[in-house]
Amino acid sequence: MAVIIRHMNPGDVAWGMSLKDQAGWNQTRQDWERFLALEPEGCFVAEYQGQRAGTTVALCFGQVAWLAMVLVDHALRRRGIGRALVAHALQYLESRQVLTVRLDATSLGRPLYEQFGFQIEYSLTRFTGVPVFVECSSHISMRPADAKDFSEVCTLDATVTHTDRRRLLAAWWSDKQVIKYVTDGNNQVSAYAMIRPGSRASMVGPILANPDIGLAVFSKVLVACATRPIYLDLPDFQPVAQHCAERVGLRAERSFFRMWLGQKPCELRHYLWASSGPECG
Ligand SMILES: CC(C)(COP(=O)(O)OP(=O)(O)OC[C@H]1O[C@@H](n2cnc3c(N)ncnc32)[C@H](O)[C@@H]1OP(=O)(O)O)[C@@H](O)C(=O)NCCC(=O)NCCS
Repeated sequence: MAVIIRHMNPGDVAWGMSLKDQAGWNQTRQDWERFLALEPEGCFVAEYQGQRAGTTVALCFGQVAWLAMVLVDHALRRRGIGRALVAHALQYLESRQVLTVRLDATSLGRPLYEQFGFQIEYSLTRFTGVPVFVECSSHISMRPADAKDFSEVCTLDATVTHTDRRRLLAAWWSDKQVIKYVTDGNNQVSAYAMIRPGSRASMVGPILANPDIGLAVFSKVLVACATRPIYLDLPDFQPVAQHCAERVGLRAERSFFRMWLGQKPCELRHYLWASSGPECG
């Protein structure tokens, strides 16, 4: 029987949360609502034999898009539903004329994406746990961000990621539950970090910082998180950050593969100390 793909609507969010729980993921209801607000035309539900079976979200940031929330109900897997969702989302992104599609693949998702021509850019490791307090002798000062930092944070983010994520950053910025820090250097923001609520643990990231101060900023963020359960997605090309996470008692939980399709992404990797999470790099 054919898979029918339609747009997701707010009435699907509670069911979307149950799918997400089935997979053990960390998104909140607010995350789903944010996706729907940011890109209602890019949020899809697959129906199979008259019942809701899967989801995906395609978010466009100019010519770069992120594909996320590819989830199929456990009982309905291996029937082509995941493939139909990804094909539909890619068609949508083609109509939006994006040049690059990026995503973070689980080991379950990777073979599916490879069939569409996605290639691995690099791997990341998810760390989890409660950081134990460590003395941080760093001379770097990190302060809570305020409204007037927003523009410089967007500039730093765009310089590092070569992507205009202003719409997404604005959505996080206006959410009082999202904790934001910045570090000042030479009269401009040289690093920023965010801690967002998650359904299982706080999601720490993105952490973007000039490489000269990156490890110091990273350590300070961990100190700020002491006593709360967190998730951190750390690129495998930043072993010093991973060692630091291990030193404060976090443990590696699983790997992701950051993949791309189309024009190869170009970013300042050495500025990337923690990813924002699997939904948008
Ligand atoms: C990944 C996922 C979305 C795939 O959904 P699905 O509906 O089962 O996928 P499809 O039936 O369309 O399978 C498409 C192809 O992917 C590959 N594939 C899917 N599941 C696989 C598995 N468990 N092992 C190996 N290959 C697999 C196969 O090549 C399959 O083609 P085939 O059936 O002709 O062999 C689903 O397993 C899922 O929701 N997993 C949990 C959440 C997750 O990890 N999502 C991916 C996020 S990146």
